[in-house]
Amino acid sequence: MIAFSTTNQSAARVRADLLAVPIFADRELGPGADAVDAALGDGLVAFLKEAGFNGKPGETLTVPLPARSLAKTAVLVGLGPRAEVSTTVLRRAGAAVARRASKTTSVATTLAAAADGLDPDVAAGAVTEGFALGSYRFLEYKSEGEPSRLRRVVLVGVGGAKVDAAIKNAQVITDAVAWARDMINEPSGAKSPAQFAAAARRLLAGKGVKVTVLTEAQMRTLKMGGVLGVGQGSTSPPRFVKVVYEPTRAKARGTLALIGKGVTFDSGGLSLKTASGMETMKTDMSGAAAVLAVMSTLRTLGVRHRVVAYAPMVENMPSGNAIRPGDVLKMRNGTTVEVLNTDAEGRLILADALALAASDKVDAMIDAATLTGACVVALGEKVAGVMGNHAAWVEDVRAASERVGEPMWTLPLPDEYRKLLESEVADLRNIGTSGMGGALTAGLFLEAFVNDVPWVHLDIAGPARAASDDGELAKGGTGFAVRTLVEVARTFEVPIPKAKKAAKKKPLRKKPLKKKPVKKRASARGSAR
Ligand code: BES
Ligand code: MN
Ligand code: ZN
Repeated sequence: MIAFSTTNQSAARVRADLLAVPIFADRELGPGADAVDAALGDGLVAFLKEAGFNGKPGETLTVPLPARSLAKTAVLVGLGPRAEVSTTVLRRAGAAVARRASKTTSVATTLAAAADGLDPDVAAGAVTEGFALGSYRFLEYKSEGEPSRLRRVVLVGVGGAKVDAAIKNAQVITDAVAWARDMINEPSGAKSPAQFAAAARRLLAGKGVKVTVLTEAQMRTLKMGGVLGVGQGSTSPPRFVKVVYEPTRAKARGTLALIGKGVTFDSGGLSLKTASGMETMKTDMSGAAAVLAVMSTLRTLGVRHRVVAYAPMVENMPSGNAIRPGDVLKMRNGTTVEVLNTDAEGRLILADALALAASDKVDAMIDAATLTGACVVALGEKVAGVMGNHAAWVEDVRAASERVGEPMWTLPLPDEYRKLLESEVADLRNIGTSGMGGALTAGLFLEAFVNDVPWVHLDIAGPARAASDDGELAKGGTGFAVRTLVEVARTFEVPIPKAKKAAKKKPLRKKPLKKKPVKKRASARGSAR
């Protein structure tokens, strides 16, 4: 754990192993750079030129300082154009410095004072998140792994009660992200559904929420055919974790449901994946890890409405007892599903969870799931897909993701693809008849279980894990969606404004609309778009 503090002293007067100072585009010196410049005898700009350092975002350069300076070393960190410094830029810069500083104990940095357009508390929160997320490492199974030695970060040039609160909130949120990352990085052999549920209980003990763990027998009573069906092939039986957060303040209104896919290992089942396809499938519980992590923050952050998390946990394995292609499952809401591919298992367990949330009469729901490879093909490894049945709610969630710097992009749920899910023997089939548009048919499948409750689906199959350290993301499980879901929980309001259903967009026009006879108007405003 890093301890964060603030000071209004000048950068040259703060004692720390390392002084991290921002440089804007074209080597424009940021706050505190004068201290480094003075220590180098006014030679900083020449030195930057010599080193080919331009001030691009993420660029770092380490400079040893003369013995008389308080800090032994300076790290210069690029922020890009001064006018474009955002929370995302600061978060990434903080993470970059944290990586550079992993062998030192203390850092002083003026980063939080570098953004003219941001409030000091917002800037300090972003820098704090960057340091905390950038110093994460998963070393559980490394005999000689070296954890980051960074213990103390002083934010120079900001201060006050609001800044302190922002730093504290950022730490609560990044602790939650770190828990999600630890769970995601844990090998599947050590995280059966029961073990995953037990870890969730440990995380949430003392966090002001109520945790219920359903066993297989209890799920049978609740007729959760999706979770039971996918889980039946594994010797480790499924679990279903439900977490309820009740705000203490009176007048709180509305309930937000968060649903997460918790496949502790996805072998594909009898529709077996390839060996390489399985390599990353211990991460197939990233959605469940994210929503459970979010639940650990709500009390401390003072969230003012009910939030309920639903996390179905299963291991998808082939065995003599596994579901077969062609089998029919009856889901919690009575819908029957013909399972034509046992590797499309996430939607089967989410179906029960969404139906349960809908019958709990929640006001809005969001699911997060590593659901389809097709979404990774469409949007790549850094951007999640957003779908939903309620345009305003979809936009709320997408906008929240933008505010916290977790890239997401809205995808459609086209009416004309619904027929791809029609089954000859059951109400639905679990894969589309066309192999194309797999992220969308998966989304359309889920929609059949939400009972018209405003719902958003986040397909995080790409960004749930990272192939290498990158900005605030660490190699391996990223904890993606935790920060977006926390932001949504903090800003949630009921009722969600009415809007046209996202899925029921205007039909494609067959012929141009006949223009109504209208009075002549100013052409600049009246031109068709
Ligand atoms: N867990 C996978 C999706 C996935 C793939 C996540 C790659 C991360 C990286 C999911 O259960 C799955 O297997 N989906 C299938 C669906 C198909 C059978 C319709 C897929 O995407 O191939
Ligand atoms: Mn699968
Ligand atoms: Zn899966």
